Amino acid sequence: MRRIAGVWGLAALALTLGVGCKRKQGGGGGSGTGSGTGAGSATTADAAPAAALKPTDLPELPAAAALPAPPVFLNAPPENADNPTTPEKVALGYLLFFDKRLAGDGSMPCEGCHHPDKGWSSGAALDAKVGGAMNKRNAPTMLNLGYHTALYWDGRKPTIEATVEAAWQGQLGAKDKEAEIAAALNAVPVYRAHFWRAFGQDADQATIVKALAAFLRVLTAGDAPWDRYEKGDKAAVSEDAVKGFELFRSAGCAACHTPPLYSDMMFHQVGIGWDRPEDRRDHGRKDKTEARADDGKWKTPPLRNVALTAPYFHDGSVATLDAAIDVMLAGGANLGKVDNLDEKMEEVALKPAEKQQLRAFLEALTGTPTFTTAPTLP
Ligand code: HEC
Ligand code: HEC
Repeated sequence: MRRIAGVWGLAALALTLGVGCKRKQGGGGGSGTGSGTGAGSATTADAAPAAALKPTDLPELPAAAALPAPPVFLNAPPENADNPTTPEKVALGYLLFFDKRLAGDGSMPCEGCHHPDKGWSSGAALDAKVGGAMNKRNAPTMLNLGYHTALYWDGRKPTIEATVEAAWQGQLGAKDKEAEIAAALNAVPVYRAHFWRAFGQDADQATIVKALAAFLRVLTAGDAPWDRYEKGDKAAVSEDAVKGFELFRSAGCAACHTPPLYSDMMFHQVGIGWDRPEDRRDHGRKDKTEARADDGKWKTPPLRNVALTAPYFHDGSVATLDAAIDVMLAGGANLGKVDNLDEKMEEVALKPAEKQQLRAFLEALTGTPTFTTAPTLP
């Protein structure tokens, strides 16, 4: 027993260091990659005694770090009354997001498609789920989700909690294995201590979902150069970016990409993917509402941190930011094939130098994220 306690002590220490690291304001490019995910699962040797321990005998955890300050450009994200944000839930959710023990087959964590160094997006156009089935949509950023009024590209989920549960079951193949996975976490003393501290109970489906959601709610990125410029620091951005902002407004981009998130959180048809034969099209918002008018509509993606999240659009079909800007400036994609193209879309002819200015503005929207690295897993 004493030997195992020593191991727990080390794990707790590693945890302190990991949690300490994340506070470093890393300027966008965090060092976290898929590499922080391979801690393996608990051995049977320590599994048996852990689950049997009385909650009061669980290892003592280092104090949870204070909640990150809300981004300077916005207020704190709204709370979910059913899941108030606490430092203890966030510390736990941070670990869970990176832990492949959450997968039905132990093969992939949430972070497998949402990498910190890619603005917490995937970097690939499309990714395979656990079990091998391909996604048909691009894995988007996890930054500033707390401000979204509807989740997923088609807005079919109302809360982060509902989305996390669906992602855990669908992407990580955890459907009908939730209890088994919770038991595996309870078998790891440090995890079990985390659940008791955050929720006053063992891990179960609801607490795993709540901890992940609490973490995502404080995963924000504010204080972009453009925010500092708007607050009066005229040296914060290049002249190109300032001209780019004027173009962004005059070209009508801000009609849908409205500040401060640079999204109106509404759904628009801009023609992406409409070259596919009708039976192979992704109908987007229409899948949720069943309204014909919503065919091919997608949630306007926020443009904060957009420079980090290539490839672009709901299907990841456009590789670079320049090419994505070109599609938008053309007034949308597959013009002529789309009968419900958004009326706010218009063709705007810009010179190459002006397109660069537009890009410089979008690049100035890259903020400072609250978390940039992988934690050390128990
Ligand atoms: C295999 C890749 C993959 C993995 C693993 C994955 N996701 Fe995702 N995630 C996606 C894709 C693809 C979407 C977009 C789906 C859509 O909009 O229909 C997405 C969307 C989301 C969204 C909605 C974002 C928005 O802008 O509305 C959240 C929240 C999310 N994922 C959380 C998670 C969590 C939590 C986990 C782990 C339990 C996870 N994801 C694991 C691929 C993945
Ligand atoms: C009618 C509303 C609307 C207007 C106007 C608009 N956009 Fe968009 N934008 C969207 C929607 C909706 C998407 C997502 C489409 C999809 O994924 O199929 C999008 C996607 C993008 C993307 C890709 C983001 C990502 O994360 O994939 C960029 C970049 C972009 N728009 C820039 C611009 C620029 C620059 C302008 C002005 C020239 C502009 N948009 C005008 C609605 C609009």
